[in-house]
Amino acid sequence: MSLFQNRQNGPKRLTLITLCALVSGLTIAADVKPSASTDGQIDPSSGFIIKPGFEMVRAHCTACHSAKLVTQNHMSRERWLTTIRWMQKTQNLWPLPQEEEILDYLSANYGERAMGRRASLPEHLMPKKVK
Ligand code: HEC
Repeated sequence: MSLFQNRQNGPKRLTLITLCALVSGLTIAADVKPSASTDGQIDPSSGFIIKPGFEMVRAHCTACHSAKLVTQNHMSRERWLTTIRWMQKTQNLWPLPQEEEILDYLSANYGERAMGRRASLPEHLMPKKVK
C-alpha cells in the first residue's frame, strides 16, 4: 500500500512538509546573520583584533614576520609611523597607499597604553617631613 493512498497519513505528511519548511527557513536565517558579530574579537589565524582595517593590516604586516611582533607592541600613532618608515628604509617594506588606515587601526587597537598609576602611599608609610 502506497503511503499516499492512506488517508490517515495526510496530516503526518503535512507535518513533515511543515517541518522541512521550518528547518530550511532556519538554515536560511542562520546564513544571513550579520558578520559584524565578530567585531572586536581576535582573528584566530593571526591574533589581530577584528576591527575595521584589520584585513589590510593582516595582509601587509604578516608578510615578513609574525603578527605577534605587531600585536605585542603598543605605540603612539607617531611611533607606529616611525616603525613603518624604519622598515621601509632598512627592511624593504614597500610603500603603503593605505598607510592612513593602517595607522588608524594600529593606534586605535595597539595604541599607547595609559600609564597605570598606583594609589598614593598612606601617610604612615611616607618619609618623615624635615622640619
Ligand atoms: C618587507 C618586510 C616587512 C613587512 C612587510 C613588515 N615588516 Fe615589520 N619588520 C620587518 C623586519 C625585518 C623587522 C625586524 C625583525 C626583527 O628584529 O627580528 C620588523 C620589525 C617590526 C617591528 C618591531 C620593531 C622593533 O622596534 O622591535 C614592528 C612593531 C613591526 N615590524 C611592525 C610592522 C607592521 C605594523 C607592518 C605592516 C605595516 C610590518 N611590520 C610589515 C620587516 C617587515
